[in-house]
Amino acid sequence: MKAAVFQSYGSPDVLKIENVEKPSPRDDEALVRIYASSVNPAEWYTMTGLFVARLGGGLLRPKDTRLGVDYAGVVEAVGKDVTGIKPGDEVFGARSGAFAEYVCVKNHVYAKPANITFEQAGCTAVAAITALQGLRDHGKVQPGQKVLINGASGGVGTFAVQIAKALGAEVTAVCSTRNVEMIRSLGADQVIDYTKEDYTRSGKRYDLVLDIAGSHPWRENKRVLNPQAIYVIVGAPKSNRWLGPLTYIIKTRLAALGASQKVIFFVASFKREDFLLLKDLFERGQVKPVVEKAYPLEKIADAMRHLGTGHAWGKIVVTIGMNGKK
Ligand SMILES: NC(=O)c1ccc[n+]([C@@H]2O[C@H](COP(=O)([O-])OP(=O)(O)OC[C@H]3O[C@@H](n4cnc5c(N)ncnc54)[C@H](OP(=O)(O)O)[C@@H]3O)[C@@H](O)[C@H]2O)c1
Repeated sequence: MKAAVFQSYGSPDVLKIENVEKPSPRDDEALVRIYASSVNPAEWYTMTGLFVARLGGGLLRPKDTRLGVDYAGVVEAVGKDVTGIKPGDEVFGARSGAFAEYVCVKNHVYAKPANITFEQAGCTAVAAITALQGLRDHGKVQPGQKVLINGASGGVGTFAVQIAKALGAEVTAVCSTRNVEMIRSLGADQVIDYTKEDYTRSGKRYDLVLDIAGSHPWRENKRVLNPQAIYVIVGAPKSNRWLGPLTYIIKTRLAALGASQKVIFFVASFKREDFLLLKDLFERGQVKPVVEKAYPLEKIADAMRHLGTGHAWGKIVVTIGMNGKK
């Protein structure tokens, strides 16, 4: 089967499409033919060899040469102990090595909502779960609260705006000019164009700031936080090749010591009940994955370059031999 493989750390040029062995499902696994996946900054950091990625993943070269996590596709075969899914079922979920024609999955495999496409289902896992956990688990968002989402137009942000609305928050979203209408159409109550207005000087205060862009230092973000507010750091600029967003996170945590507001950084983790909640939100039409562009697997380096600009809107999808499927 075809898969994207990287043998050394570096720019997207290190990604090659190779023929690798097709996996066989164990008794408790399903074999899924993947039709769509998507690129996430985590894969960018793994590919480029961020320091922390090298610590666990191979100091000089990657131990695991495969990338990709989000997927949607069709079950091709199941092991004898698998219940609840069968060959032919349309599914989505999360599994490492998803930039490939096939994966074997045991845990995160869920029925694909019929009202979204493979491309949409295949770009949800990392970004949507991050948005949900950032708002609900770490931000403790409550109906009626005022929430500011900085970096609202990207993969995590487009899910966050919709999920925050679904959870009953009043949402102010920060993005650049070209994305203002798109973000408004996702339901944001107010939209701030960061190229024209600095949200930290708006004079307004929020109960929760979900900071996906990390574009302002703590002393400026503090101006828009209620005394009991929660400030959740989701991401930060890729500026430092070795440390990536870590410098921003560490600086912010240190600067905020002693503040009355809570500052939280978290790393999203996959949980079955969260996938099921997302599936429900998709099926009820309260959340819809936003896709900017789809690249075929053969062009995965271009998809990664696009993500690497830091100015994607919505999700960048990778399609894998869809044969007319959408
Ligand atoms: N903590 C976790 O578990 C976790 C999980 C997933 C992702 N992340 C992190 O979250 C961040 C975003 O991920 P993503 O998948 O959403 O990335 P993405 O799809 O590349 O989106 C980045 C977005 O940031 C916006 N942006 C850039 N500069 C901005 C600024 N100064 N102010 C406001 N918005 C700005 C861009 O919009 P414009 O084009 O309009 O500038 C773009 O839409 C990354 O740092 C990633 O590592 C963390």
